[in-house]
Amino acid sequence: MLSPLYITVFSFLLSLPFVSAVTLYTIPGPAATGTANPAFQTAICIGAVPCDGSQLTPTPNPGNITTAINIQLTDGGYPGLGIPVSGNFLGFSIELSVANQLFGNTGTQLNPIFLNLLANIETRAGRILIRVGGNSQESATIIPGGLPNGTAVEKITFSSDKTATPTLLLSPNLIYAMGNISNLVNVQWFLGVPFNDTSNPRTTLAEIAQHVLGDRLVGLQLGNEPDLYTINGLRPPTYTPDQFTADWGTVLQDYSSDSKVLNSSMFVGPSVCCGLDTGWTPEDVWNTGFLTDYADQLAWISVEHYPTNNCNDTGILDPEVLMPQLYMNHSAVVQLSAPYLNTSQIALTLNKPFIMFETNTASCGGFSGLSDSFISAMWAVDYALSMASFNFTNALLHVGGQSDYYNPFTPPTTNQSSYRQWSIGPTFYSTLVIAESLGSSNLSQVVDLQLNSNNDLTPGYAIYEQGTAQRVVLFNYLTDPSGASDYTAYISVGGNETGQANSTPASISVKLLLAPSATDKWNTTWAGQTFGGPFASDGRITGSEQIIEITCDQPNNVCAVQVPAPAVAVVFLSQSSLQESQGTATATFQTTVATGTINTVSIDPSVLATSNGRGGQSFLGLGSTSPGSSDGLKITPYNALIACFLIMFFNALTLLSR
Ligand SMILES: *[C@@H]1O[C@H](CO)[C@@H](O)[C@H](O)[C@H]1NC(C)=O
Ligand SMILES: *[C@@H]1O[C@H](CO)[C@@H](O)[C@H](O)[C@H]1NC(C)=O
Ligand SMILES: *[C@@H]1O[C@H](CO)[C@@H](O)[C@H](O)[C@H]1NC(C)=O
Ligand SMILES: *[C@@H]1O[C@H](CO)[C@@H](O)[C@H](O)[C@H]1NC(C)=O
Ligand SMILES: *[C@@H]1O[C@H](CO)[C@@H](O)[C@H](O)[C@H]1NC(C)=O
Ligand SMILES: *[C@@H]1O[C@H](CO)[C@@H](O)[C@H](O)[C@H]1NC(C)=O
Ligand SMILES: *[C@@H]1O[C@H](CO)[C@@H](O)[C@H](O)[C@H]1NC(C)=O
Ligand SMILES: *[C@@H]1O[C@H](CO)[C@@H](O)[C@H](O)[C@H]1NC(C)=O
Ligand SMILES: *[C@@H]1O[C@H](CO)[C@@H](O)[C@H](O)[C@H]1NC(C)=O
Ligand SMILES: *[C@@H]1O[C@H](CO)[C@@H](O)[C@H](O)[C@H]1NC(C)=O
Ligand SMILES: *[C@@H]1O[C@H](CO)[C@@H](O)[C@H](O)[C@H]1NC(C)=O
Ligand SMILES: *[C@@H]1O[C@H](CO)[C@@H](O)[C@H](O)[C@H]1NC(C)=O
Repeated sequence: MLSPLYITVFSFLLSLPFVSAVTLYTIPGPAATGTANPAFQTAICIGAVPCDGSQLTPTPNPGNITTAINIQLTDGGYPGLGIPVSGNFLGFSIELSVANQLFGNTGTQLNPIFLNLLANIETRAGRILIRVGGNSQESATIIPGGLPNGTAVEKITFSSDKTATPTLLLSPNLIYAMGNISNLVNVQWFLGVPFNDTSNPRTTLAEIAQHVLGDRLVGLQLGNEPDLYTINGLRPPTYTPDQFTADWGTVLQDYSSDSKVLNSSMFVGPSVCCGLDTGWTPEDVWNTGFLTDYADQLAWISVEHYPTNNCNDTGILDPEVLMPQLYMNHSAVVQLSAPYLNTSQIALTLNKPFIMFETNTASCGGFSGLSDSFISAMWAVDYALSMASFNFTNALLHVGGQSDYYNPFTPPTTNQSSYRQWSIGPTFYSTLVIAESLGSSNLSQVVDLQLNSNNDLTPGYAIYEQGTAQRVVLFNYLTDPSGASDYTAYISVGGNETGQANSTPASISVKLLLAPSATDKWNTTWAGQTFGGPFASDGRITGSEQIIEITCDQPNNVCAVQVPAPAVAVVFLSQSSLQESQGTATATFQTTVATGTINTVSIDPSVLATSNGRGGQSFLGLGSTSPGSSDGLKITPYNALIACFLIMFFNALTLLSR
């Protein structure tokens, strides 16, 4: 039976002009499991953010739409290509206070839904970068002996500062969970360490993290958004970049002189966020001597930035008004990246990676109707590629708590986990699109093509690897179910006016990030596959994968690609670029039934670790969840049985070799 989305795909294929052959390949994938849970079907979705059905009206289209866009690529490179970046370009920044809700509370009880989500990216990009931190890192303290009732993160009070972040006690179990996650999926971690108090630096968290995580720990963040310390009440009103740099030095001394800290050269800073609007620019920090003083200790140069906020400081902002100004607007995206060009060039000369350490649609949780709808998925792809073209090396999408609209993924509250799975937000799809757009070669160079006379509604990028155009990413921000606002991109490689020989390929493959409208909430598909609606996902992308193969007009040196309104199209210019992005089989951490007694069904990583490793053979394992372990979770034999059944799942892509 054809779903409405499939009909959309087919109808636009039928209307494709000037194309000799278009074939739709369908590769079967897993069926959706969420709705198979009868309790889920009867649960009333109310009160939670994923149940907020309010939808914005898509911005009306301008009258003068371009329906044909020429794209001329060259062989041997393209002017202004960014530096080589990796498929893990877009990772996640997870607020420390919610990390245990996502990972699980111990190293022995991991959340399989989280593992499944990450496995989707590992397959495509090879590895995933995750930062654990945020405002809550500043006054966190790790208790080496663990916390009394088995939780990995305990919120003890609410601080008086305006970010209203809890003061946290951490258990080493949080770090063990991170370590065990990395044994199963290739996650590299950043961890935020406290910086609220230079006279009480609390280096124990770094000691434990370095010992447990080893080379899976790639950075320790010292200082989070220091340009907001004054506003947030963490430093006196007179606090300056010079004082910040001095504080950094004071705390670094504590790390350097702590013999249990194994590596004092993995720090991340300065993570300034908001100077572009209110005060400290990155340059204000560079001018203090930060980069020269700490050249040895600083492993990553970081900034944080959101295009706007929903903090209501200066009145309530209307997302419907903001949508055309900031989100379906390529110039606005470029304006987010451009102020960092000087810093990205400085980072290049210092040979240090430059990372957007925390971003998302809007700080203070994002906007209802915008941060949780398709526009944010398209925006995040545009923004990530723009940053790559501006020579950032990585960017991390922020993940907050239950009340945040911008989350790429949100688990249900603990008391709902017996009948609800996770809600996968639009920006999680963006991470898959970016992983595939950049592939796993670590050689992808991105350039903004300034398409269609740099039209804000139809941006496009080319991705080159070692001088060869491998992929093109095309956007159509408009919403028009009639099809009248679709455009056709005519892509030529070499030939035409370039003075080069024709090198347009014989055929190309296209995958679409698609939804019925820019403000649609739950019908996003990537190449026909979906994570479903609110609370419906076990972390696997479900449905058949649809790859459109287009035969090019080689005599005329052109390939025609239709881009629906709205959509993001990733065009693979060769079979090898498609295969590089597809990767091989995605591992599945299986669970179909949730339990009422523990936070979620969780799995014993030791079984996985010793039985199969990553991407190994198909197997069925039975693990033990020892009730005697110090975490003290109540586990019934029945739950343990279900929880520990592990099935390595291989979809039809198994046959493709890496
Ligand atoms: C459409 O009109 C607007 C406003 O005059 C202009 O800025 C834009 O460039 C036009 N777009 C096209 C594709 O001609
Ligand atoms: C290259 O030339 C062909 C044949 O005239 C034309 O169809 C195509 O649109 C041209 N490509 C570009 C990018 O202009
Ligand atoms: C920093 O945080 C710790 C732990 O929450 C707290 O004990 C300490 O008082 C804080 N220091 C300052 C200066 O706020
Ligand atoms: C046990 O953990 C819960 C959840 O974090 C917390 O609310 C509660 O205060 C803790 N109880 C004790 C005795 O520590
Ligand atoms: C996995 O978790 C166990 C139990 O918490 C812990 O002992 C072990 O060190 C963890 N492994 C890693 C690699 O972190
Ligand atoms: C310390 O960590 C950084 C960042 O991961 C790494 O580049 C460096 O090689 C490490 N240094 C040592 C001595 O292990
Ligand atoms: C780039 O940053 C450096 C260091 O702060 C500064 O001296 C220089 O003026 C900046 N250049 C531009 C073009 O902003
Ligand atoms: C700002 O106001 C909006 C609309 O009243 C509300 O939904 C949102 O939660 C507020 N944001 C904060 C951080 O309080
Ligand atoms: C798009 O962003 C640019 C740059 O900020 C701005 O000048 C322009 O007005 C925006 N377009 C719309 C439709 O708001
Ligand atoms: C990124 O750096 C490369 C190499 O220095 C340069 O060619 C390119 O223009 C830079 N990107 C931008 C947007 O300036
Ligand atoms: C479930 O937990 C949430 C917060 O974690 C709470 O607001 C809600 O009242 C609880 N519901 C029930 C039925 O216990
Ligand atoms: C979106 O999906 C829901 C089910 O999740 C369906 O009821 C609805 O009709 C779909 N909307 C569109 C416009 O396809």
